[in-house]
Amino acid sequence: MSKATAVANPNIAFIKYWGKIDDALNLPANPSVSMNLAALTTVTTVEFQPGLRVDTVMIDGQPAAGEAFDRVVAHLDRVRSLAGTAARVCVFSRNDFPAGTGLASSSSAFAALSLAATRAAGLDLDEQALSRLSRLGSGSACRSVPSGFCLWQGESDENSFAQQVVGRGHWDLVDVVAIVARQHKAVGSQQGHGLASTSPLHQARLAAVAGWLEVVLQGIRDRDLETIGPCIEADALAMHGVMMTSQPSLLYWRPATVSVLQEVRSWREAGLGVYFTLDAGPNVHCLCRRADASEVEQRLRNLSGVEDVLVSGVGAGVRLVAYHLF
Ligand code: DP6
Repeated sequence: MSKATAVANPNIAFIKYWGKIDDALNLPANPSVSMNLAALTTVTTVEFQPGLRVDTVMIDGQPAAGEAFDRVVAHLDRVRSLAGTAARVCVFSRNDFPAGTGLASSSSAFAALSLAATRAAGLDLDEQALSRLSRLGSGSACRSVPSGFCLWQGESDENSFAQQVVGRGHWDLVDVVAIVARQHKAVGSQQGHGLASTSPLHQARLAAVAGWLEVVLQGIRDRDLETIGPCIEADALAMHGVMMTSQPSLLYWRPATVSVLQEVRSWREAGLGVYFTLDAGPNVHCLCRRADASEVEQRLRNLSGVEDVLVSGVGAGVRLVAYHLF
């Protein structure tokens, strides 16, 4: 096969990946836990074209340039070296959600690219190897390889990959995302990770994460939102505390971000089971049970400053599809 197309869902972390112990290998400072988002997808087609002199990369209809292009080519080089080929490729990738807004587009992007490129090169990696490879493209991408809820742990290149905690059918949790801004963020995650260690709060967060992680893993198995929710919120706030107190300081929040956080807490005090988390961006992910999702969606839509709301259940792992983008 010289052409393959893969679909991946981005994931939202309940326990965050923020800070690395190895920048080149994307080895995280702490283990993280996530849920794949079924409603958001990246589709990527890769074709090896021996006649090409350079790789061609199109993302959302535009030719990729600069850093984005270099990052994709570096990843393709990893696949070429695994496959023992120097052939150049044509890549088309399409996201159905806004990139660069804290919706973790790099997670689905590198998971889909890894599967499509390895298959197009004639390789058949198992889930573990594919997760490891995806991690080298973007750390969080390793968690979009298995299906459902995933745990990413490990300290070395060999043992750092994500594994399923429970499948998507285990718990019908919903992520209701309040979009408060659609612009590309000023400082991307890749740069941000490098700043984590400049924060006096970084070590304190890492010390706390171990306890939150255990609670969240058990709570996912037990389908216990009220137990995991406070740990998820605590880690999102701890991560943003690290970001805000890094040098230079990263402040991703908008006024509407804070309004949504306040509202979620007041809804909860009034009895609605909903908890928030945020990635490296201003948008707020609100986690709730399926039965409460439309209520949460309606309430978010009525808030000023909320431009749009996305609703997603638990997603599958990266997979091949029979159609191609070109
Ligand atoms: C805030 O995976 O985007 O979303 O490995 O440098 O590509 P790189 O970073 P990336 O970091 C994601 C950070 C986060 C938290 C998370 O998803 O765990």
